[in-house]
Amino acid sequence: MFKRIAGTKDVLPEEVVRWQKIEAIARNIFSLYNYQEIRPPLIEEALLFNRSLGQTSEIVQKQMFLIKREKEVYSLRPEGTASVVRAYIENNLDKTSGFMKLYYIGPMFRAERPQKGRLRQFHHIGCEAIGSSDADLDAEIISLADNLLKGFSVDSYKIKINSLGCPEDKKALTQNLQKSLTGKLARLCADCHTRFKNNPLRILDCKNEKCLEVIRKLEIKDAYLCPECKAHFNKVKEGLDSLKINYEITPHLVRGLDYYNRTVFEVSHPDLGAQDALGAGGRYDSLAKQLGGPDVGAVGFALGIERLFLVSSVKCQVSSKNLVYIISLGEEARRQNLKLLDNLRKNGITSDTDYEGKSLKGAMRKANDLGARYVLIIGEDELKKNVVTLKDMVSGEQKEAKSEDLIKELRC
Ligand code: HAM
Repeated sequence: MFKRIAGTKDVLPEEVVRWQKIEAIARNIFSLYNYQEIRPPLIEEALLFNRSLGQTSEIVQKQMFLIKREKEVYSLRPEGTASVVRAYIENNLDKTSGFMKLYYIGPMFRAERPQKGRLRQFHHIGCEAIGSSDADLDAEIISLADNLLKGFSVDSYKIKINSLGCPEDKKALTQNLQKSLTGKLARLCADCHTRFKNNPLRILDCKNEKCLEVIRKLEIKDAYLCPECKAHFNKVKEGLDSLKINYEITPHLVRGLDYYNRTVFEVSHPDLGAQDALGAGGRYDSLAKQLGGPDVGAVGFALGIERLFLVSSVKCQVSSKNLVYIISLGEEARRQNLKLLDNLRKNGITSDTDYEGKSLKGAMRKANDLGARYVLIIGEDELKKNVVTLKDMVSGEQKEAKSEDLIKELRC
């Protein structure tokens, strides 16, 4: 017997209702902020992610699902930002539309060791606003994330923000960090030793408890920010204050992807345990240019849907479908009912019948299990009289209805 791959999930019909609800809430809120949906492919040239996320990022180093075909190497997308920016450039959206607000909902793939809240196929609700460096947009995007979470009935989450500054500031921060970590290397994990050589900022993102002990004690101030980046960050904070958004300035927050600069943020939730990030995002002002496109600022974020489900109290009522269930007694009735079903559906009435050869009793039980509103029973007698037996499953009432009046009866 085949089993699903570890770290993937079957979303069964009763759970799909919840997914649809979350997606509908997201679409509605995105449209209030004037975002349009984009659906890039799930597979891209692997190089796109190497360039965007950085060769030394955890995702590129260890987590991409690669597919080799002849000389090409493709990757299942581990995240959406790089694909959206690629699509923005490739489709000349900078020339036709300029500034664009785009959102996406869909699966992402990372070859991680599965555990609670960490899957190999998971889903993002994400957005990217491309074509502006305005700090007010950073505030708007953080407020959008906040409103989405409120819309999903999530509470007790924390929004942590930081500014990485421009590439020069990032360099200054890196040197600063290297200096403060010298002499403490022995207390860091093996991965952090490599990070110290290749990309020391990543050490701040390490989840190893021993490393966290060292990191927590590091004094990181925002002195590395140049005046422009400091002014940008101040404007973001002012915007958030005016929108009355609760946030915490977290100097240790660096994010594990190379494309970020200036504002970065993360939303965490205490009930998630080790994998406590519900979502994250930030600015990535040089990515479009780096991928061969225009020199435009951009900012975005993504929320992990599976993690949202772990903390959201969004209620879902399965909507009553007003199902009409047809039971045919005999071959001739069965033949006629195929046409009747077709007619009901063409008139917008949800209907179904038994395809398992059940007895009358068995079919009635099935109709009950399905929550049918009405049952239509048609046998030889009914065919002769050109009527159907109509049973109201709520009142239990049963009567004969003329075939030509049936649609009207069912609509009442
Ligand atoms: P990320 O932090 O890699 O950012 O992912 C965003 C969110 O996806 C995480 O906070 C988490 O909720 C969820 N997530 C990540 N990995 C997994 C996993 N293995 N299993 C379950 N959930 C997971 C990005 O991907 C950026 N593209 C966000 C962004 C958009 N930045 C700018 N624009």
